[in-house]
Amino acid sequence: MTVTAVIGAQWGDEGKGRIVDELAIESDVVVRFQGGGNAGHHVWVGDTQFTFHQVPAGILSPKAHCVIGNGVVIDPADLLTELRELQDRGVELSRVHISDRAHVIMPYHKLLDKLEERERDASGTGNLGTTTRGIGPAYVDKYARIGIRVADLLDVDQFRSRLAIVLSQKNKMLTQIYHSEPLSLEKIHGEYFAYGLELRKYVIDSQTYLQDQLREGKNILLEGAQGSLLDVDFGTYPYVTSSSTVAGNSYSGSGLPPRSINHVTGVFKTYITRVGSGPMPTELTDEIGEHLRIRGYEVGRTTGRQRRTGWFDGVAGKYAARLNGLDSAILMKLDVLDRLPTIKICTEYSYKGARLTTPPPTVEAQQLCEPIYEELPGWRCDTTKITNADELPAAAKTYIKRLEEIIETPISAVSVGPKRGQTIQMK
Ligand code: IMO
Ligand code: MG
Repeated sequence: MTVTAVIGAQWGDEGKGRIVDELAIESDVVVRFQGGGNAGHHVWVGDTQFTFHQVPAGILSPKAHCVIGNGVVIDPADLLTELRELQDRGVELSRVHISDRAHVIMPYHKLLDKLEERERDASGTGNLGTTTRGIGPAYVDKYARIGIRVADLLDVDQFRSRLAIVLSQKNKMLTQIYHSEPLSLEKIHGEYFAYGLELRKYVIDSQTYLQDQLREGKNILLEGAQGSLLDVDFGTYPYVTSSSTVAGNSYSGSGLPPRSINHVTGVFKTYITRVGSGPMPTELTDEIGEHLRIRGYEVGRTTGRQRRTGWFDGVAGKYAARLNGLDSAILMKLDVLDRLPTIKICTEYSYKGARLTTPPPTVEAQQLCEPIYEELPGWRCDTTKITNADELPAAAKTYIKRLEEIIETPISAVSVGPKRGQTIQMK
């Protein structure tokens, strides 16, 4: 029996979907425990690409049951579309389960996400660059104790009375603060109750289900979304997402007990990317940044935005490794560096004359941090066909070893391409 968490160790888009897909073969259950449709986890099967936003990427394994846990915020219309598309592509949906306690993203959450971004733009402070999927406003309501949960959607009268209370509050906000049109109770109630009817067959008491699986000795995989530097507590606040993305939240977002976890693995790319606004000390705005973006196909799957790119940030990497207590790391996209003559790794930040080995707490300070780099020789050859760690070029081995030292974590596997099987197990 193993319980493994796969966590993004940078700013998201590290390749978690790809790793979950590979590990799901050995798993009985795969669980998403936070975030929602802001995630874009994609997997190649042969020449076919699958992108998952809410359904765990483990669904492509022939047997794994997939749970959308209590900690996730669910957009029912988008989820139904995702499920239909999967079914059309031959995926068996009886293995999908949705927590009755997960919160629901309502139309006002998506609207407020857009209006709040517009307001931030207009105020001159600049927007956060959210995915406008309603994630932040839905988590706000969860903690304000006015959220609608999946279980509420299933009872027509209970849903109506809860919605009436929260909608009158939201309509005041929409009309009086944002000078927008009010939303109709009848319309939302009808539409969302219908979604509840369609989703009902997937809804379970997920924490009891998972606890039973644990007792039966099953293998459970916890699929993180976003990345540790987007964590609401430890990320580059306020340029973060609205959930806790680190391993510590995989318990409360699923209902598994804290001591059940055996292994935490962190997913890193050989460089970093970021979508949306916020500090990124190693950002490259030159031709190397462009090279990484093109070679790494760095375009967001959820919003179609180009990702910002930069050298591997070892300060952020070590910070993420310690926050999650990583037992191992998986290094993605080694091949993207194949053509570079030299490769830089940021090992410290220089801030107002001092050297920092951990990120400072404020965005203002993070923006003043200058990366201090180590420069290593590149390997300048194609690594995409390599299947055995011994065959890696010497310079690539040195680079991987140096990253292990910096993040204080053994690298157990390295990916050299987007397809299943392009993962080298390290010794
Ligand atoms: P996966 O799971 C990369 C970013 C957004 C924005 C910030 C807040 O594919 O790695 P939100 O809509 O969550 O309120 O936006 O977080 N963001 C992601 N960036 N990968 C993701 O998910 C992300 N999910 C949210 O771009 O900067
Ligand atoms: Mg993504």
